[in-house]
Amino acid sequence: MSSDHAAKKYYVTTPIYYVNGQPHVGSALTTVSCDVLVRYQRLLGRETYFVTGTDENATKVQDAAEKAGIPTKEFTDQLAAAFQQCWRALHIEYSDFIRTTEARHVHAVQTVFRILSDRGYIYRDDYEGWYSVSDETFFRDSEVRDGVAIETGKPVVWVKEPNYFFRLSAFHDRLMQHIEAHPDFLQPEFRRNEVIRFINEGLRDMSIARPRRATKGWGIPVPDDPDQIIYVWFDALISYLAATGWPEDPGFAQIWPADLHFMGKEIFVRFHATLWPAMLMALDLPLPTHVYAHGWWVDVEGRKAGKSTGGLPHPVRFAELLMQRSGADFDLAADALRYLLCREMNYEQDVEFSVEKCLLRFNSDLANDLGNLLNRSVNMMLKFYDGVVPADAPVDAEIAQVAAQVREDYARAMSEYRLHQALAAVWRLVGRMNRYIDERAPWALARAAENGDETSRQELATVMYACLEATRIVSILIAPFMPVAADALRAQLGITQPVALARWEDLHWGGLPAGTRVGPPKPLFPRIQDLRVDVQTLTFLTASRPVSKEDTRTVTENTTATAPTPGTPVAPPEQGGNTPLISIEDFAKVELRVGEVLAAEPVPNTDKLLRLTVQTGEDETRTILSGIAEYYRPEELVGRQIVVICNLQPRRMRGIESQGMLLAADVGGRPVLLQPDSIVPVGARIR
Ligand code: MSP
Repeated sequence: MSSDHAAKKYYVTTPIYYVNGQPHVGSALTTVSCDVLVRYQRLLGRETYFVTGTDENATKVQDAAEKAGIPTKEFTDQLAAAFQQCWRALHIEYSDFIRTTEARHVHAVQTVFRILSDRGYIYRDDYEGWYSVSDETFFRDSEVRDGVAIETGKPVVWVKEPNYFFRLSAFHDRLMQHIEAHPDFLQPEFRRNEVIRFINEGLRDMSIARPRRATKGWGIPVPDDPDQIIYVWFDALISYLAATGWPEDPGFAQIWPADLHFMGKEIFVRFHATLWPAMLMALDLPLPTHVYAHGWWVDVEGRKAGKSTGGLPHPVRFAELLMQRSGADFDLAADALRYLLCREMNYEQDVEFSVEKCLLRFNSDLANDLGNLLNRSVNMMLKFYDGVVPADAPVDAEIAQVAAQVREDYARAMSEYRLHQALAAVWRLVGRMNRYIDERAPWALARAAENGDETSRQELATVMYACLEATRIVSILIAPFMPVAADALRAQLGITQPVALARWEDLHWGGLPAGTRVGPPKPLFPRIQDLRVDVQTLTFLTASRPVSKEDTRTVTENTTATAPTPGTPVAPPEQGGNTPLISIEDFAKVELRVGEVLAAEPVPNTDKLLRLTVQTGEDETRTILSGIAEYYRPEELVGRQIVVICNLQPRRMRGIESQGMLLAADVGGRPVLLQPDSIVPVGARIR
C-alpha cells in the first residue's frame, strides 16, 4: 500500500433525502446499511468518512412546505433536524451531514456550473418536453404514456422554457469505456447491464436549469443569470463533492473519490451511473470506485413503499414499539431495528416490508438464538466455574473451524454489499453453538467431573471455552450492525475493550484470556409477548407528527431510558373468584421450578398440543404436552425460560406421557406463558 493510499479515507455516501416528509424505514435502510459498511471498514482498519444529508432545493419540497403552510426555509430546517435526530437515535455515526441550502453547497454547485460553462459543456437553448415534479425528472416522448412517466407512473407536464443544457451526449464513449474497464464500478452486475442498455439507447443533452417562475424562486440560481434556477439533480449530486471541502479545502484530497455511493435502484441508472460520472469527467475529477443500488421495500402489490403510499413506519416509532413490546432499553431496541432492516432486506431484490415479520424475527433471532447462547453460556460459567474462564482449556477444533468459515463468508458477503447474508453467516455460528450446547450437555459433564472423571473435566472446559469464545467472535461480527448490543454482550463476557476498538485480527480463535470473569447475566433482547400488529399499531408507526423541539426531547429521553413499562395489557384482568384460601404449607406442596425449553414440536393429529422437551435442572429432561399450539409456534419457544409444575401426576395424552405443566396467564382464553423477569439458573425453585 502506498502512503498516499494509506492516507485516503474510505468515503461512503447515502443519497441526500428529500425533505418533503419524515424519515421512514426506507431511508433508514439505506442509511443504516451505509453506517454498517463504514463500521465494517473501520473493523478492517481503514479510516473512514461518511456523509449523509438532505436535498432541499426541490420543487416538491417547496410544494410540501406550501401545503403545510410553513415558510420553505423554516420547513426544511425542521425536517433536516428531524432526519439528524432520527439518525442519531439509530446510532448512525456520520462524519458530516450536508444540507443543500448551506452556503458551502451553493458555492460548490455554482463553481461546477462556472467551470463546465467555461469548458463548453454547458450551453443555453430552449427546452420543450415532459417534466415530472414528483420524480424531478425530464422525460422523453417515448418514456411517457397517457400523461404519466412509464417508468414511475407519476404525472408529467409539458414544459416549454428557456434553459441551460449539459452536454451529456459528449460522454457516451468515455462512459462506456470506463464501465467496461472497471467491471465492479456499477453493482450489482444486473443493474450495471441496465446502465449499459440505457447509455446505448443514446444520451441526449440534459436540461439543467429551469426559469425562476417554474420553481417559484426556490433553489440555487445560475451564476450571473438569477432568473434561472439550477435543476435539482444537477445540484444534489454535487453535495457528494461539497461535503469533502471541494473546491477550496485541501482535505478534499484525502477523501475524494468516493469509495461507495449507495442508494435505492430508482436513482441509479439515470443519475448516479450516467449523469454524475459524466459531470465528474467534465470536471476532470476521478470517478467513485463503487456505485451500488439496492432493491426496495415494497407493499403487498409490489409497489415501492414510501412517502407517497404512506405505508412505511417511522424508524424511531418502530424502535419505540420494539422497546415497549420487549422491555429492552431504547438503545438496544434501536440496534434491533438496525439488525431487522439489514436482515429482512434482500439487497438485490425488492422485499415486502412487514412489521409482523420483524417482530417474529426479533423473537427468533435476537431473543432466542442470540439471547440463549449468551445467557446459557454465562449462566453455566457462573454455575460450573464461578464465572472465571478456566486456564488451558483444550481447543474444540470443529467449532474453531466453523468460526473461521463464518468469518470468511461474512467478509465475502460484506464486500458484495449482501448484508443480509453476512448476518445469516453469523447466525450459522450462533445456531451451531446452541446445538453444540444441547449435544455436549455441559451440565452432565459437570456432574461427571464432580464425581472425579478427568476426561469430563477437560471436556467441560473445552465446551465452555468454545461457547464463550464463539460468543466473543459473534460480538465483533455483529458490532457494525448492533454497536450498542455488541458492547452490552461483551460486558457480560467480561470484556472491557469497547468493540469499536476491535480489529479483524481479533477474530482469531483464542482471544478470550483465561481468568476473565463473566457475568452478571441480563437478557439483551427480552422476548416480545404481544406479536399482534393491528391498525392502531400501524397508525402509531406511520403517524408523522409535526417536527418540533418536543420530538427532540422524546428521543433523548428514550435513548437514556432504562427498561420501560412493557406494552399495554391485552385484556382487562379477570376478577378474582371465590376460590377457597389455602395455607402456605398447601402452597409449598406445589413444586414450581424454572425450566428451559430445549425442543418443541407439534403433536400429530391435533392442532392444539405442542410436545416440549424441557430442562428443569434434573438428570433427565422432561416431556411436557401443552395446549398452546394455536398461540405459540414451536420455534418461538425453543430456548425460552418457563415456569413448570414439576410434581404433577404424569398424564398420558395421545399416547405420550406428559411430565408436568407450564404456567400461563389466562387472558380471555388465550394462554400467555409466564417467565422469570431475568434469565435465572435452570431448575431454580419458585416459592
Ligand atoms: N434526493 C434524491 C437523492 C439525491 S442523491 C444526490 C432522492 N431522495 S429520496 O428522499 O427520495 O430518497 C431516496 C432514497 O431513499 C432511495 O434511493 C433509497 O435509498 C431510500 N428509499 C426510499 N424509499 C425506499 C424504499 N421503499 N425501499 C428502499 N429504499 C428506500 O431520491
